[in-house]
Amino acid sequence: MNLRALAAKVVFQVLEKGISLSVALPEQQQKLTSGKDKALLAELCYGVMRHLPQLDKLVSDCMSKPMKGKQRIVHPLLLIGCYQLYFTRIPAHAAISETAEACRQLKFEGLVKVVNGVLRNLQRNEKQLPTDNETLQFNTPAWLVKRLKSAYPDTWQQVIEQSHQRPPMWLRNNALSQSREQYLTQLNELEIGASAGQSDNAILLDAAKDVALLPGFSEGTVSVQDGAAQWAATLLAPQANELILDACAAPGGKTCHLLESENSIELIAVDFDAKRLERVQQNLDRLSLKAKVIHGDAANIDSWWQGAKFDRILLDAPCSATGVIRRHPDIKWLRKQADIEALSKLQSQILDHCWQWLKPGGTLLYATCSILPEENAQQVSAFLARTQDATLAPIAQQPKSDDIGWQITPGQDNMDGFYYARLIKG
Ligand SMILES: C[S@@+](CC[C@H](N)C(=O)[O-])C[C@H]1O[C@@H](n2cnc3c(N)ncnc32)[C@H](O)[C@@H]1O
Repeated sequence: MNLRALAAKVVFQVLEKGISLSVALPEQQQKLTSGKDKALLAELCYGVMRHLPQLDKLVSDCMSKPMKGKQRIVHPLLLIGCYQLYFTRIPAHAAISETAEACRQLKFEGLVKVVNGVLRNLQRNEKQLPTDNETLQFNTPAWLVKRLKSAYPDTWQQVIEQSHQRPPMWLRNNALSQSREQYLTQLNELEIGASAGQSDNAILLDAAKDVALLPGFSEGTVSVQDGAAQWAATLLAPQANELILDACAAPGGKTCHLLESENSIELIAVDFDAKRLERVQQNLDRLSLKAKVIHGDAANIDSWWQGAKFDRILLDAPCSATGVIRRHPDIKWLRKQADIEALSKLQSQILDHCWQWLKPGGTLLYATCSILPEENAQQVSAFLARTQDATLAPIAQQPKSDDIGWQITPGQDNMDGFYYARLIKG
């Protein structure tokens, strides 16, 4: 099937059915054979998610009435057509004819003329992007702009701008296989540009690479993981033979990193989502690591764990994921304002419950990939206020020693937006 038709299906699923891009895109990519086509399909879908309000306005302004009923899939197709004209180097005639052909393939022969007409109209435009309000100006929902303004009064525009950049590719060297320096040498020999990141095993690639081209990837010598997420293992600092709980573990990036950093620990990896939990086991298998993988609720540990209390707990809590919009631009449209309050409530429930399962003297590392204080510093402040035996241990990397935790903003040292707070019991 025509690549634009597949792209329209992906965008439709995200916008109309609330399915995430990371689920909807691979399903359609499977239908393509060439790597180049798969990459272009991804580029079109990601591009539309990044620039949705502007594309929507440009397209809607060219139409006398919106698409209705089954024809609604033609609207995402027009967004894809418009994205090609405004944001790619695809020649306009090819973008228009391929998009019209996609309309035919989607079995809307009767709308081919409309698609052609709208796209030709847009082609004649001066390529001026609409900026009439903040949603259009920043391609971000108004509620999120408002919250970011209040959280980052001096830098909110930069935070939004960084959330629209294409993220770099980070690797995590497997310390059980080789030292980071040895792996960097291997990359260097293959002329793959890379440099060491700030945390122990982080490697930043100069340009994204197909993992099949990375030495030893299938044998587990290296994994793909953002530099910010790689701080979890360093900050939790598991020690030999300790009992560790990874309370929200799926898909298992941090689970594996904890074991790579101290292989003698007994690690219990738990997640509420059975499907996502399968990926934890797959990741452990690829890296030949062992953990006890449990399908369970981190807010009800008693129901699945009768063992001892934990020496350390990693609580990588479910969150708005507003720190990783640059990797998942669909988050801007899938997340709703009301989700923030619900998530913050869930986070505090899990935090309170996990705390009861931490040994006196133990460490709990609270983490999110959010950049909203409601889920981060405010969440931890409230926890400290209601929990007498909890103290906050400052993190060396946080800008001010009296900050409540370490807030990393998107793009900072090339990393995703992330938050860490280290809590000590007793
Ligand atoms: C941010 S993700 C974890 C990412 C993971 N730590 C990693 O590094 O790959 C949050 C996870 O929390 C899980 N989750 C949500 N509510 C939960 C609960 N009550 N108990 C356990 N896991 C939960 C979600 O299924 C999701 O997989």
